[in-house]
Amino acid sequence: MSFRPPKGTDDIGAPESNLWRDVLGEWERWADLFGYPLVATPIFEATELFERGVGSDTEVVTKQMYTFTDRGGRSLTLRPEGTAGVVRAFLDSGAKGPWKGSYSGPMFRHERPQAGRRRQFWQVGVEYLDVEGPAADAEVVELGYRFLTAVEIPGLDVVLNSLGDAVCRPGYVETLRGYLDAKREVLCDDSLSIVDVNPLRVLDCRVCAPVLADAPSMKDHLCESCADHYSQVKKSLEALEVPFVEDARLVRGLDYYTRTAFEYVATDLEAAQNAVGGGGRYDGLAESIGGRPAPGVGFALGVDRIVLASSREPAGRIDVYLVSESGPYEALIAASALRRDGLRVELDTEGRKVDTQFRAASRLGARAVVVLPAAGDDVDVRIGDERSGMPLGSVAKWLEGRL
Ligand code: HAM
Repeated sequence: MSFRPPKGTDDIGAPESNLWRDVLGEWERWADLFGYPLVATPIFEATELFERGVGSDTEVVTKQMYTFTDRGGRSLTLRPEGTAGVVRAFLDSGAKGPWKGSYSGPMFRHERPQAGRRRQFWQVGVEYLDVEGPAADAEVVELGYRFLTAVEIPGLDVVLNSLGDAVCRPGYVETLRGYLDAKREVLCDDSLSIVDVNPLRVLDCRVCAPVLADAPSMKDHLCESCADHYSQVKKSLEALEVPFVEDARLVRGLDYYTRTAFEYVATDLEAAQNAVGGGGRYDGLAESIGGRPAPGVGFALGVDRIVLASSREPAGRIDVYLVSESGPYEALIAASALRRDGLRVELDTEGRKVDTQFRAASRLGARAVVVLPAAGDDVDVRIGDERSGMPLGSVAKWLEGRL
């Protein structure tokens, strides 16, 4: 009998995982630079949290959740996204005032698998809570943009929209309903199945886009405070030199959004999976899951897609390969000393021939080779054509600036 990973899931090992590690390391760096401490929440939560938080009519909730009953008879769901859980954790903690949290981990959605669309996928993201001002939105959008730029996503676009709020959106949705009612005959089957439940989502349909070119736009129906908030967000992004394009059709697939909505699009990827991330403001989410009012804004980025799109060369994983003429015991001791000097070192623990060790060094892409002699104290350090003999204790200093 042989087992394979379940459909839509992957085993990710070297060398592919080298880029994963770089991307996740870069993420930690940027989240930290922008002041987002780590928040780790459970991978499963009460099913109702997602029904109420994400929205019981959304595709994520109706079609994609991995829901099960545990041995205590509770309905639990593997998290399909991170925001609802983080907002729950924030409310539970009793924290008040501006609060930041960043996360990184697997999410689960029962989708039709393809490249960049997995059933278990990895998101990194942030949530910024108890904040209302447009500066918060702009800071969040900037963080995602800086990180995605650092991990070298070619053809990156920031797409921006405002979805209005409880004051102005209902009126707009009614206008849109009227418009879509008259278009029923030309809508695709998918759009017809959601037009009554969630007319906004129809705007997002790529198939129907050509026949909906003259659809009424939320932009023209924003109330004064939403319009002002939106223009402040745009002004701030311009000042921060974060380029963006506006798209009145950007509606997002989760129900909790109000006002700012955005996506990061890798235009070089297949159109169906080219959103490398998305987010927005969700001023009513905390209340919809039974908490006090706590406006917030955040995003999540799909690491599987980022790794597909990134043109970054993963950093070499090994600084030094230690070739030992005197055997693995001596190599082990020497490697320990070099590692404590901060070098990434690989060695041969199996006592293989010296030639085999040199071949291993080149296969692993070691940037330098240190040869530990059978006799004598000095090691032989080689980097490219440069060679030098020296005591082991001098190696780290000699390599500094050369690697
Ligand atoms: P989302 O747009 O559903 O938003 O997901 C964010 C990103 O996760 C997507 O842009 C995509 O890159 C990645 N993603 C989603 N589903 C899959 C999948 N099946 N396979 C691979 N990657 C996928 C959210 O999840 C919101 N919680 C974002 C947010 C945070 N909004 C406010 N705060």
